[in-house]
Amino acid sequence: MLGTDLVTTLLERDHEVTGLARADLDITDAAAVEAAVHGQQVVVNASAWTAVDDAESHEGDAFAVNAVGASLLAQACARSGARLVHVSTDYAVGGTAAGSPIASAAPLLPVGAYGRTKAAGEWAVRASGADALVLRTAWLYGAHGPCFPATMARLARERDVLKVVDDQVGQPTWTVDVADLVVRLLEARAPAGTYHATSSGWTSWYEFAVEVVRTVGRDPDMVDPISSSEFARPAPRPAWSVLAHDSLKAVGVAPIGAWRLRWAEAADEVLAEV
Ligand SMILES: NC(=O)c1ccc[n+]([C@@H]2O[C@H](COP(=O)([O-])OP(=O)(O)OC[C@H]3O[C@@H](n4cnc5c(N)ncnc54)[C@H](OP(=O)(O)O)[C@@H]3O)[C@@H](O)[C@H]2O)c1
Repeated sequence: MLGTDLVTTLLERDHEVTGLARADLDITDAAAVEAAVHGQQVVVNASAWTAVDDAESHEGDAFAVNAVGASLLAQACARSGARLVHVSTDYAVGGTAAGSPIASAAPLLPVGAYGRTKAAGEWAVRASGADALVLRTAWLYGAHGPCFPATMARLARERDVLKVVDDQVGQPTWTVDVADLVVRLLEARAPAGTYHATSSGWTSWYEFAVEVVRTVGRDPDMVDPISSSEFARPAPRPAWSVLAHDSLKAVGVAPIGAWRLRWAEAADEVLAEV
């Protein structure tokens, strides 16, 4: 989902780019990674094991991609001198107590198997010596993959009532905005470090669903708030996924705009296939 928008955005900004799908490069294959990184100025790692629930029963497989694969890419970048943009997640710090937005330098407190493997990936990237930007994002939606608003829009047309959790809070974020931020960070030659690529402000899944239902012209009263315990799933979810934009501001790069305004901009494109 993110990788597709990254390639499009980089091409639109006149950068030369080679987009590699899994069939072109398996990031757990050290020799293939070395060959793919050779000669590149910048490598963006948007690949991951992203099946959060499956990771609970296949943590080793998720670790191979999210930690070992990230490590191989970072070591190859360190050897070749390429910059690395490594995409991480709110799940790496999702155990942080609710209250204020989570600073980019806050300690890693992963949630669930997926969070542990992504946190390990962050460690590996930082330990590699590569010139790396670790870019944490969260609650992604986009036109090129299954996502929450597309699911809500479809269900709003099929059902009379939608029950959506109201006790998980985060920042709905458009993949196009993350791609744009990657380009802006690279063009600004931002120093190596950890940055948060999420929309500004925050909301709950319930409130986001209300906004999506409104967008597709259905009555928002059809959405009922429920608690996470009423919607049990194999993997735990972070209750507080609100990431601060402190390090972006410190290097003079504007954070992504307010989530509601960005959704208004994104909705037509994201829901085009629904
Ligand atoms: N989606 C979210 O809400 C969210 C939130 C926070 C952070 N993130 C992070 O954002 C990044 C992009 O996520 P996304 O939502 O765009 O995920 P996505 O649509 O699932 O894309 C991940 C891609 O990685 C590929 N991949 C898996 N294993 C690979 C391997 N061994 N070698 C090469 N490629 C491999 C997948 O290929 P196949 O499809 O062929 O398996 C897929 O194309 C990830 O780092 C993710 O952790 C996502």
